[in-house]
Amino acid sequence: MHSPLSSFTIPLILLVQSYGVSAASWGYGYNDGPQTWKGDCQTGLRQTPIDIRTMDTDYALMDRVNFIGYDQVDEVTMQNNGHTVATAGFTEWKNPPYVSGGALQGKYFLQQFHLHWGKKDHEGSEHKIGGLSYPAELHLVHLKEGLTITEAMNKSDGLAVVGVFLNIAESGEPLAAMADKLDDVIYAGNETDIDRFRPRSLLPSVTDAFYRYEGSLTTPGCSEAVQWIVLAEPITITRKQLDQLRKIRNMEGEEHEKNFRPTFPLNGRRIRFRPAQYDRLRFCSSSYSLSFFITVLSTLLAKIIF
Ligand SMILES: *[C@@H]1O[C@H](CO)[C@@H](O)[C@H](O)[C@H]1NC(C)=O
Ligand SMILES: *[C@@H]1O[C@H](CO)[C@@H](O)[C@H](O)[C@H]1NC(C)=O
Ligand SMILES: [Zn+2]
Repeated sequence: MHSPLSSFTIPLILLVQSYGVSAASWGYGYNDGPQTWKGDCQTGLRQTPIDIRTMDTDYALMDRVNFIGYDQVDEVTMQNNGHTVATAGFTEWKNPPYVSGGALQGKYFLQQFHLHWGKKDHEGSEHKIGGLSYPAELHLVHLKEGLTITEAMNKSDGLAVVGVFLNIAESGEPLAAMADKLDDVIYAGNETDIDRFRPRSLLPSVTDAFYRYEGSLTTPGCSEAVQWIVLAEPITITRKQLDQLRKIRNMEGEEHEKNFRPTFPLNGRRIRFRPAQYDRLRFCSSSYSLSFFITVLSTLLAKIIF
């Protein structure tokens, strides 16, 4: 397949290995699915997604994530790249949106966001919480300030991806701007502009509670370059919007049976959890007060030593 390589598609190709370059070389089917992906996808030891289980999770003192410039309204371009629907253009904005805080070192600029879903309601998200899936998951992909995408892929903290779960409900507000245009990008290669887009609309009202761990891209080559921030609170998607998503076609021109990757073992990694509020009673009177104390102490020591 041929597609014009505009400056817009280049980052997408690298981040999502998108439409045009590796056409049909990977997907989510029997012959080209995750079990066939090569390189780090097979051999990596810090792969994403994961199942977020209580036993693998520690409470941790971390700053909130700051979503800077997310309240702006400006133009973006949404593209069906054959694997998902990806929306980009934020780096061209007057004040490009970025994230900081959340135990990230530095600023990470928003490159694009995309979604993962399935055909049935009981699956669709890439991450799981205690073995359970949401029907869809949104990924906001950010690149560390000062790095090219190629450089970022080679660093353990080159990228920061914010994962947001989607829950079926009556309110269609979070995806409204996108859903209006989804019918224009049903086929791989389709592209459309969204004139007025506000990234804040994609976030839950409370972003203070999140899971944090070191992982990878969830598409080939599965680079282990991602600082993951998975928000605890989901946003909503209406049944109608979910049905629209399920009509999106892949490289072969078929509706995606699914476009999420299965979960991977932690291989010794721990997940850090930041609760929405540090409840003193909760931390000081329960059985994990000691481990919390140790976390605080080691955080402080780390600050002093390094
Ligand atoms: C960067 O990538 C190259 C080629 O894959 C590899 O040889 C090198 O070790 C990587 N460097 C780091 C710091 O990961
Ligand atoms: C989407 O792509 C299909 C197949 O390439 C094409 O026929 C159609 O015109 C495109 N639609 C839009 C809105 O660009
Ligand atoms: Zn993703």
